[in-house]
Amino acid sequence: MKQGPIVTIDGPSGSGKSTVARTVAERLGYRYIDTGAMYRGIGWLARREKVPFREGPELEALLESTRLSFEERDGRTALVVNGRDITDRIRTAEMGMVASDISAIGSVRKWLSVLQRTLGEEGETVLEGRDMGTVVFPDAEVKIFLTASLKERARRRTTELRQRGETVDPEGVQQDLAQRDFNDSRRELAPLRKAEDAVEIDTTSMTLAEVVDRVLAVVRERVPEKR
Ligand code: DC
Repeated sequence: MKQGPIVTIDGPSGSGKSTVARTVAERLGYRYIDTGAMYRGIGWLARREKVPFREGPELEALLESTRLSFEERDGRTALVVNGRDITDRIRTAEMGMVASDISAIGSVRKWLSVLQRTLGEEGETVLEGRDMGTVVFPDAEVKIFLTASLKERARRRTTELRQRGETVDPEGVQQDLAQRDFNDSRRELAPLRKAEDAVEIDTTSMTLAEVVDRVLAVVRERVPEKR
């Protein structure tokens, strides 16, 4: 039973979705769900099990036998797939591309959408991704669409990957992001786009604190009891 509002935050890679969504959830006392991590998790598993990235009985069987969940472990939220904590393994640039590829497949989107709706069912949840406001939660009380210039997104992503210890070439990061933008917004199923009733925020020259404040202001506007 839904007991509270849903906040969706969609946008392209590197627009600041994860940090903003996590911080907004903390400030509101809501749960935070990173749906990109779910696509990364399925991509990681399919590749490990050598299941081809196309519709068919092998992929169906993989989805049917998979358990994917977020669990609190060692003071952080871990992505657990079939009992294995793969939180760190999915965070590479390569897994971002793998996730983008597998996310174009209908059966994968369907399977994950069902899980995402179950996770958001009780409300008081912030969900971040590409199609949260358009497809998965079209009736969400608050919808945000974050953007930033390609250059700024590449700069942020390069810093983030370096902090994780990856050796990265900024040019390559920018090309990867451009490729993912293309894949994610041109695909046939649930492409990345702003929901009509979403509030768009261009974060290019904003600080994290400014973006969070802006999102919280939209929440206060649309959810009167959160004043
Ligand atoms: O947010 P991210 O970079 O972790 O997402 C990885 C990929 O997963 C992204 O390139 C597209 C896909 N994705 C999606 O299709 N729908 C979502 N709701 C979230 C992610």
